[in-house]
Amino acid sequence: MSAEHDAPLLRLEGVTKRFGATLALGGVDFDLRAGEVHALLGENGAGKSTLMKVLAGNEQRDAGRILLDGEEIEIRSPAEARQHGIAIIHQELNTVATMTVAENLALGQEPRSRYGALDRRGMVRSAQQKLARIGAGIDPRRRLGALSVGMQQMVEIARAVSERARILVLDEPTAALSRAEAGQLYRLVDEMREDGVGLVYISHRMEEVWQLADRVTVFRDGARIGTRDKDDVRPPDVVRMMVGRPVEDLYQHDRRRPGGVLLDVEGLTGSGVGPASFQVRAGEVVCLAGLIGSGRTEIARLVFGADKPSAGTVRVAGRAVNPTSPRDGIRAGLAMVPESRKDQALFLPHSVESNIDISSLGQHTTVGVLHRRRIREAVSTQMEGLRLRRNALRLPVKSLSGGNQQKAALARWLMRESEVLILDEPTRGVDIGAKSEIYELINQLTERGKAVLVVSSDLPEAIGISDRILVMRAGHIVHELDSHAATEEDVMFHATGAVGGDQGETDE
Ligand SMILES: Nc1ncnc2c1ncn2[C@@H]1O[C@H](COP(=O)(O)OP(=O)(O)OP(=O)(O)O)[C@@H](O)[C@H]1O
Ligand SMILES: [Mg+2]
Repeated sequence: MSAEHDAPLLRLEGVTKRFGATLALGGVDFDLRAGEVHALLGENGAGKSTLMKVLAGNEQRDAGRILLDGEEIEIRSPAEARQHGIAIIHQELNTVATMTVAENLALGQEPRSRYGALDRRGMVRSAQQKLARIGAGIDPRRRLGALSVGMQQMVEIARAVSERARILVLDEPTAALSRAEAGQLYRLVDEMREDGVGLVYISHRMEEVWQLADRVTVFRDGARIGTRDKDDVRPPDVVRMMVGRPVEDLYQHDRRRPGGVLLDVEGLTGSGVGPASFQVRAGEVVCLAGLIGSGRTEIARLVFGADKPSAGTVRVAGRAVNPTSPRDGIRAGLAMVPESRKDQALFLPHSVESNIDISSLGQHTTVGVLHRRRIREAVSTQMEGLRLRRNALRLPVKSLSGGNQQKAALARWLMRESEVLILDEPTRGVDIGAKSEIYELINQLTERGKAVLVVSSDLPEAIGISDRILVMRAGHIVHELDSHAATEEDVMFHATGAVGGDQGETDE
């Protein structure tokens, strides 16, 4: 075999990237073979997305080389990356919401009629073909913004396949997918691998990495720690490479002894869900489980007052709240970390510090004067708990890595001494080290007698961190399980109504 044949499909050498004072990548190497799934793992902020943005032409490297089939190439823009057959599904989808699916798929190659007018029918037909090739039954005339995240990703993949991409990067592709959508994505990944495409797969979900990957590479602090064949390592080894320390039993907690009822919800109805009745006691963690679209988020929002209920009552420590706005909820002792940090949880152009101030102003105000120093101290303590670097506090939230944005959203609410905490998907996109710290924080809250209501799609997490599980289906709480005895199958059994499978509809 000639040397050229031995060259991997892609090779990145000594790639360096700085953002101001932050060294995001400190001269890293990475290679990708045709027909392999190469998982890229590492803690939040390790540099995974940045490396892939350099490859996709979204960021320019400060140093290093990119070799395709052994030949050095330049990638100065996303268009140039596409010409080289490089496609990427970004961690935070940046789709133009008002565009239709067909328009999106035709981008840059719009079919024109003989007279130069846009050929709309031709566009829809061609989009239909592209979607059919990957088995996605999506109407090309729909607006992209009206589709679930999973479906939007399918559109992006259809585009990559139609452009005959040789390299496909998937950055946290399943973070917001339903089970059925994730299953469909895994099948596509397998098919593309069969076709000789080289795939880079970034994920914090160890199970799926183990199911899909041929090789794994671990990054830490902008450096490559190592690359292994999957068959030569076990998940705990990889976790140690990622975090730099072993992470013991993630869900370990003493058996809690809940006190009196803190949150009492009765007949709560609205947003197409309910009536729902349940209680959470002091020192107790209750998890709302169920398929995406089953109404978990809707219930959480009604309890908090983010949406207006049409009937029902909410009591905190015996006092009726009946919140009609988040402000009412907050005043009554409720706090909520919403699932979409991007839309609801944070003000992206502002610094982490000022984001955290916002919801805790009440506590640090004396006759209207802010105690700046006290705020800063409290924020630092909170951030250290979540292993967010001190210098990250002054940065605008939008320049933080995906997982660190989630931690900032959490910290913003944990600052308050609320009686009842509602956490909607608190660990989505968060690395395993920070996950264990978030669980530890939840434990501390319960030890201090708080009531915690969690929405989680991660079944091991839902079972592992809670005392009771309320399973939702089609807008109703259909079953209650004791977390200490429940299995994942039990939860799925009730969540699906035992028919098996997922409706695949999502509310996101
Ligand atoms: N546009 C930017 N401006 C300033 N700093 C940035 C920018 N983009 C990334 N960074 C910093 O670069 C580092 C690497 O971030 P990156 O997004 O690559 O992490 P990641 O490994 O993808 O993490 P996650 O698992 O949370 O997605 C982080 O410290 C991040 O704050
Ligand atoms: Mg990332």
